[in-house]
Amino acid sequence: MQQNTSYSPKKKLYIQSYGCAMNFSDSEIVASILKKEGYVTTQNSDEANLILINTCSIREKAEQTVRKRIKDLKKNKQTNANLIIGILGCMAERLKEKFLEEEKLVDLIIGPDAYRDLPTLIKETDEGRKAVNVILSKEETYGDINPVRLNSNGVSAFVSITRGCDNMCSFCVVPFTRGRERSRDPKSIIKEIAELSKLGYKEVTLLGQNVDSYLWFGGGPKKDFLKLSEEKMANAIDFAELLELVAKKTPNMRIRFSTSNPQDMKDSVLKTIAQYHNICNYIHLPVQSGSSKILELMNRGHSREWYLGRIETINKYIPECGLSSDFITGFCNETEEDHQLTLSLMDVVKYNFSYMFYYSERPNTFAERKLIDNIPTEIKKRRLNEIIEQQQKHSLFRNQLAVDQKYEVLIEGLSKKSEDKFFGRNSQNTVVVFKKKNHNIGDFVNVRIKDCTSATLIGEII
Ligand code: SAH
Ligand code: F3S
Repeated sequence: MQQNTSYSPKKKLYIQSYGCAMNFSDSEIVASILKKEGYVTTQNSDEANLILINTCSIREKAEQTVRKRIKDLKKNKQTNANLIIGILGCMAERLKEKFLEEEKLVDLIIGPDAYRDLPTLIKETDEGRKAVNVILSKEETYGDINPVRLNSNGVSAFVSITRGCDNMCSFCVVPFTRGRERSRDPKSIIKEIAELSKLGYKEVTLLGQNVDSYLWFGGGPKKDFLKLSEEKMANAIDFAELLELVAKKTPNMRIRFSTSNPQDMKDSVLKTIAQYHNICNYIHLPVQSGSSKILELMNRGHSREWYLGRIETINKYIPECGLSSDFITGFCNETEEDHQLTLSLMDVVKYNFSYMFYYSERPNTFAERKLIDNIPTEIKKRRLNEIIEQQQKHSLFRNQLAVDQKYEVLIEGLSKKSEDKFFGRNSQNTVVVFKKKNHNIGDFVNVRIKDCTSATLIGEII
């Protein structure tokens, strides 16, 4: 006899996320939507009756990782005939129904703007049908949903503030998988952060594909802003104002944000960071390439010189600001000279750290349609290795400058290498390891730096 499991405590959800912080944050929204349906999350995929994989499409390799994971789930299907496997996120949006044909184990496909429809889709699969919803929205921000924190350290949390991206960098699949840019109501953002504060959280990272583009004018797509009356435009809240609001309303909360887009980052944001102690002195400002020719082909909307001007302005407003970047090597038409320009830009900025990749052509992007992926993989990889090596030198250089300095560090957990040490991060986002004293995870402590590696600062509580 088949059991009706609608409100049974046995409804167990296993959710696994790949890719960017936004995906991890979305999974917390999904867990919240399903909690109302009676699902509890489990860390053990063997006991789950619903397995959701939140996927990433940013590079081909990311998609391959997901496909391998799905193949591994075959054994779960074999031992549990009623198991439902669902695909969320960017691969769901990119591949749509086609994914069901390609991966027979999958029962359900749902895109990043359709998560409220998940309970309905699950019912369809319960009735033996495959279910798909990949409709992108111009308004959805999930602003009213209080995320269930997954794998949380109880100290830091992600809070999403915008969805989608209108920038159309020529290499990037995100505008196609996450749709048009829209911002979340500041009231719901403040409410979520105040609740986190009450629960004991000490740090939030405000998330968006392009946080500097945040603009609240009542909801809807960012491009509708231009249709508003002058009065309504004047009342809109931009990213600098949102940062200030959050900093003032929750003064005990440390605030970070990611990702900043050089083209959209205004001086008002820098002034606000400088003004409030609880906004971290750290900016992730991806540049991708040091060559203006490549930046133009990438449709980044700025040149090398203009970017370096932004870095100068950052250093003027926020001395000792931690800086990081993303880089892509081997983009279409990248010559050895362009690559040298990337290395020389790195040399000028000396980032604290960077995320570095070699170019992976993505279907339907401008680059895939109009440019030729003409750099051989070995060259892409060789250039990647060169920038990684360069970055390691710069990370070590930055960390050496921190030796003998004193930093306020938020304790995030026990050091992986030693039980009698804590780890945390300073305002500049560098990891600091130090011997335990009478403090707890979630405390702020002052640490004097004694030594370092290229990845870590090693210090003592003072
Ligand atoms: N604004 C986003 C960027 C998402 S993609 C954010 O919130 O971080 C993250 C990084 O992946 C990009 O900055 C870029 O360096 C890299 N990336 C994006 N598309 C890529 C591609 N087709 N090949 C290689 N790397 C890519
Ligand atoms: Fe992608 Fe560029 Fe937006 S990297 S997420 S299109 S800012």
